[in-house]
Amino acid sequence: MDNIRNFCIIAHIDHGKSTLADRLLEYTKTVSEREMKDQLLDQMELEQERGITIKLQPVTMKYKELTLNLIDTPGHVDFTYEVSRSLAACEGALLVVDAVQGIQAQTLANVYMALDQNLKIIPVINKIDLPNADPARVASEITKTLSLPENDIILASAKTGEGVSEILEAVVNKIPSPSGGSEAPLRALIFDSRYDEYRGVQAFVRVVDGRLKKGDSLHFLATKQSGEAIDAGIFKPKLTSTGELSTGAVGYIDTGLKKIEGVRVGDTVAGAENVQPLPGYQEPRPVVYAGVYPIDADDYPELKDAVAKLKLNDAALTFEAEQGGPLGFGYRCGFLGLLHLEIVQERLQREYDLNLIVTAPSVVYKVRSKGKEQKITTPADLPDEFDEILEPWATVEIITPQSYLGKVMELAEARRGEYKTTEYLGEDRAILKYEIPLFNLIVDFYDKLKSVSSGYASLNYDLSDYRPGDLVRLDFLVNREPFRALTTIVHRSEVRSRGRAMVKKLKELIPRHQFQVPIQAAVGSDIIARETLPAYRKDVTAKLYGGDVTRKNKLREKQKKGKKKMAQIGQVNVPQKVFLEVLKR
Ligand code: GTP
Repeated sequence: MDNIRNFCIIAHIDHGKSTLADRLLEYTKTVSEREMKDQLLDQMELEQERGITIKLQPVTMKYKELTLNLIDTPGHVDFTYEVSRSLAACEGALLVVDAVQGIQAQTLANVYMALDQNLKIIPVINKIDLPNADPARVASEITKTLSLPENDIILASAKTGEGVSEILEAVVNKIPSPSGGSEAPLRALIFDSRYDEYRGVQAFVRVVDGRLKKGDSLHFLATKQSGEAIDAGIFKPKLTSTGELSTGAVGYIDTGLKKIEGVRVGDTVAGAENVQPLPGYQEPRPVVYAGVYPIDADDYPELKDAVAKLKLNDAALTFEAEQGGPLGFGYRCGFLGLLHLEIVQERLQREYDLNLIVTAPSVVYKVRSKGKEQKITTPADLPDEFDEILEPWATVEIITPQSYLGKVMELAEARRGEYKTTEYLGEDRAILKYEIPLFNLIVDFYDKLKSVSSGYASLNYDLSDYRPGDLVRLDFLVNREPFRALTTIVHRSEVRSRGRAMVKKLKELIPRHQFQVPIQAAVGSDIIARETLPAYRKDVTAKLYGGDVTRKNKLREKQKKGKKKMAQIGQVNVPQKVFLEVLKR
């Protein structure tokens, strides 16, 4: 155990975490130069495209006589849950801060979380090669706000490789080796899992006590499932069989289980049933809900299977079957934020080849009526009459350069934010605290914040409480048919502006049909906004002169297939992207 170090990297988006991880892999010769592809740890296709880390990816490196286990973590506010899981499996963390940008709101939140779990933190100021780098300023932010000793700070460039050897030495010398009973019965924390066609459920674990060998029996304490370790191994970063895992190790176990529910992230795998479970981590709390439906109703069984498998790899996703009226059978899913929702939608579409409709996202409201309280996750379920409705609020921390303070405050106030405090971080940056209704925060606040601050402001939020609000149900009618999937709950002061904006957006997003399509927004029986989509006949065959019937038919077939990508509301075809786009202002 003395020769193992388990650590993770905490950083804000784009501060260079993945690039630094690549340098560490290179320096320790974990991958040969030929295999070295930039951003090796961002393996998911989607991650490479968007250039962000979504999933944590573990890797084992050899350095001198030691085994270093690195767990990469994502930086976006939606993925805090993934970060908390990495932290639980480690004894230390590299805190990577960009030498130009300095500390960001999300970094603070993650560092506090790491300190809470008694992790040793090694601060690294990255990108010192950039001409406008200001390591002295950033160092003073780190020592002042986080009270970390200045001597511990390492100056580095993940681009040139400067500082990489110092970082490895600090990992070895400053991060404690894992403690745990090597002779004790097996206890391992499951920090991730996935499903493999051939090997069944694979559990990614950190062994806390004892050891595990191929053939050992396994007990999953929370789900009360039993199984056998078909095989075990480590991440190099490809899964590599070693047949065993010792105390303190990070690796995977092939459980052979076909029942996906048996392996739950946060659960303890033990060698016997009567073992005390490890403190898992908090269950993730979804903040955004949306309905997920197959466009083609026949795909429901595939969706059912895909959602269950994705859940294994994305522990934060929650779901429940529901019947969505004209949309047929689907799921009401809970997400950590809007980015999480978009990622799940894209993963379902790409990895499982499904065509989906995701309804307008909503937060959870509470409605009181005749002394009873009811939770509303589907806005269309809000009854016409009730005594009181409560909405969730969040406390929000925004770090911004002072020159953008005015614009950031304007934005927060336009979203019904209530100002709390301003503190200063070094000379020219401020930490603003607000309370904002969660719904106004999740839809597009982050994007807007980035745009009003030219990308400089950052944000972190926590759910605070439920407060009564003057909220109403805003319904939509497309071609006079109710469009439940778009129903939104809105504050009365915003109902007209939102209704008008959404109707306008719908007119832009819905393609023209062969007939006029009225699009209306309504509160109760009052129509508060209306647009008309003019008729249009797109004759795809018009360009073909005369005869060739087969070509014409082929084109018609193609057109039919194209339509399958759209949802059907009565006679009207609605493209998938409508549901998410329509809320963005
Ligand atoms: P997420 O995966 O989204 O959380 O971001 P990340 O922290 O992993 O950042 P990433 O490694 O993708 O780096 C972001 C950008 O900064 C990339 O364009 C890198 O090439 C660049 N970059 C990273 N480190 C350095 C550095 O030391 N110097 C310079 N000049 N650029 C760097």
